[in-house]
Amino acid sequence: MVEILRGDLIAQRIEGEVRDRIVQLQQQHDCHPALAVVLVGEDPASAIYVGRKKRAAARVGIRSIEHRLPADTAESDLMALIAALNADPAVHGILVQLPLPQQISSDRVLGAISPDKDVDGFHPVNVGRLSTGTGGLVPCTPLGCMILLDQVFDDLKGMKAVVIGKSNIVGKPVALLLLERECTVTVTHIHTRGLPDIARTADIIVVAAGVPGLVRGDWVKPGAVVIDVGINRVVDADGAKRVVGDACADEMDHARVITPVPGGVGPMTIACLLSNTVRAAEMALG
Ligand code: GUN
Repeated sequence: MVEILRGDLIAQRIEGEVRDRIVQLQQQHDCHPALAVVLVGEDPASAIYVGRKKRAAARVGIRSIEHRLPADTAESDLMALIAALNADPAVHGILVQLPLPQQISSDRVLGAISPDKDVDGFHPVNVGRLSTGTGGLVPCTPLGCMILLDQVFDDLKGMKAVVIGKSNIVGKPVALLLLERECTVTVTHIHTRGLPDIARTADIIVVAAGVPGLVRGDWVKPGAVVIDVGINRVVDADGAKRVVGDACADEMDHARVITPVPGGVGPMTIACLLSNTVRAAEMALG
């Protein structure tokens, strides 16, 4: 029988650990961790994610400062806000919710955030540190995936991992983290030829393709572990709205472990954002 690995429960444990670290920061250094969350425009999914991040911050004692800007904001105005947040010693983490409206270059904006406050781990300096294994803030969803794998395995050395998806937010960084742990990593995407055959060779599949139900049961070797990063909103035949992952959950009985959607990777992403914010505050103390 496949084990359902409840990310929501592990995220609760991480939140508890983050809460303890915040108490220490407050008592020993009079430091009150703060996260600036910037939302540009009216994308409904982004508004939901930002709301979740703010509520989670409040639960653990992180002050969140929300900056909502209109969809027609000029890039220069957003850059001015980021410069002010970079310079503010009371702000420890800065998160600019993606996607940004098309008149704004995400690359320029992410590159303007101080790497020390870059709790998303998207700044080129942090990307470089990740690729050389030299520390830095690590993107939240990939970090959450690794913590989930650590619940299953003592050691990932020598395992064959197949990553499906090549985004800067998940696919590429999770591949680097798996490589750092001495997995043999194959990075694939929806245009990869023979993808089912490649997936079938994996001990670990991390799928972040944004395609509902992409990974079928026969793509998964018996005993493999499937980390499903997909969050897809679909409408059933009966008109009901549901959130589903990138793997066909009802075809995974022969797998060893699968993460559910919802309640798997999603809550881990938020827990890792909190943890990164506290880490940024700790690092700021020197
Ligand atoms: N949009 C989708 N995922 C993310 C994320 O992890 N961070 C930010 N800032 N925006 C996102």
